[in-house]
Amino acid sequence: MNSFTQQTPSATSSLRKIPFFNYPQLFLSDKERLQQVFEDVGTRGAYILQSDLKTFEDNLAKFCGVKYALGVADGTMAISLILMAAGLKQGDEVLFCSHTFIATASAIHFAGGTPVPVECGPDHMMDPGDIEHRITPKTRFILPTQLNGRCCDMEKIQAIATKHNLQIVEDSAQALGSYFKGQHAGTFGIGGTFSFYPAKTLGCFGDGGAVVTNDETLYKTMLALRDHGRGENGDIEMWGLNSRLDNLQAAFLNHKLQSFKEVVQRRREIASLYHAELSSIPQLHLPIAPDAQPNHYDAYQNYEIEAENRDQLKAYLAENGVGTLIQWGGKAVHQFKALGFKESLPFTEKMTSRGLLLPIHPFLSNEDVTYVCSVIKAFYEI
Ligand SMILES: Cc1ncc(COP(=O)(O)O)c(C=O)c1O
Repeated sequence: MNSFTQQTPSATSSLRKIPFFNYPQLFLSDKERLQQVFEDVGTRGAYILQSDLKTFEDNLAKFCGVKYALGVADGTMAISLILMAAGLKQGDEVLFCSHTFIATASAIHFAGGTPVPVECGPDHMMDPGDIEHRITPKTRFILPTQLNGRCCDMEKIQAIATKHNLQIVEDSAQALGSYFKGQHAGTFGIGGTFSFYPAKTLGCFGDGGAVVTNDETLYKTMLALRDHGRGENGDIEMWGLNSRLDNLQAAFLNHKLQSFKEVVQRRREIASLYHAELSSIPQLHLPIAPDAQPNHYDAYQNYEIEAENRDQLKAYLAENGVGTLIQWGGKAVHQFKALGFKESLPFTEKMTSRGLLLPIHPFLSNEDVTYVCSVIKAFYEI
């Protein structure tokens, strides 16, 4: 691009307003049914630890193909709870991919662990080739983030974990509905976590999260941890927290889970459209297209491109009505020097200077996507 001057995207397209995520539509697109859910829960006075939560947990466990799911306050607490339940001790090192939300590392920190950042690869996921040389006698967990609605190469990560006697916990906050070799995100290690933040693939109307596991002991420990340390008979069995998923949010999530597969399908259609329109632009590096890799079934929580002149492209899209987002404000976790990280991860740093999230959510029309692409093409004069 040799000029960043204002241009109309094409002679035929008129200016549209395409927000990065359409928060009002989360409610408005299904208003009547959601109001019924509220009315039902409110009429029963069922707010905390009630049957809707149990139903949601059972449905979520079934969806993921695991024995247990536990609704908790949010995706950050979900990570802390599974690490605490698994016996993380002060100073234990936890390897995580630096291209993730700060929540991943802060959850490790507040569970007593030391977060150790690892590089991402060209697919923006934890790079299995950068894990082994970071393992020390203090390392206990590998905690990959299943980022952007995609799973890491879990075969490679599992092989490393087995070789070094480490446990895997997955931050799958962004990955409900995504699979690796037919296995659902969050189910490859001792436990996996989800976030139901409104903009997530399955979003509620506030904060919400869950942990999934096949381990009964971990499950029972987390049941107590999330509810003030109370055991099944109400006795205090351990120090605990208040980290319960609200029953009302669980009721909304139960309702939304029924049509969740279609939501993922729509996200995949949008990703295909982006791929068809943008793959010939040499200044862009695109996410892997749906069905391009048989081992992966991606849910496209995000569509994260790398772009030459990223900041100018973002500004140009904004001028033309298109909302975009630079994930984590353009910094990987190890780049927050105030937190004491000393590592330099050149691949990740280059990536974070180029990464940009395009709008991808079920409220976008095909015409919206075509419009976004036409603006990008106009920017690069293609
Ligand atoms: C990768 C990742 N990890 C953890 C979280 C934390 O989830 P929550 O906001 O529900 O605490 C998020 C949410 O944005 C996330 O994207």
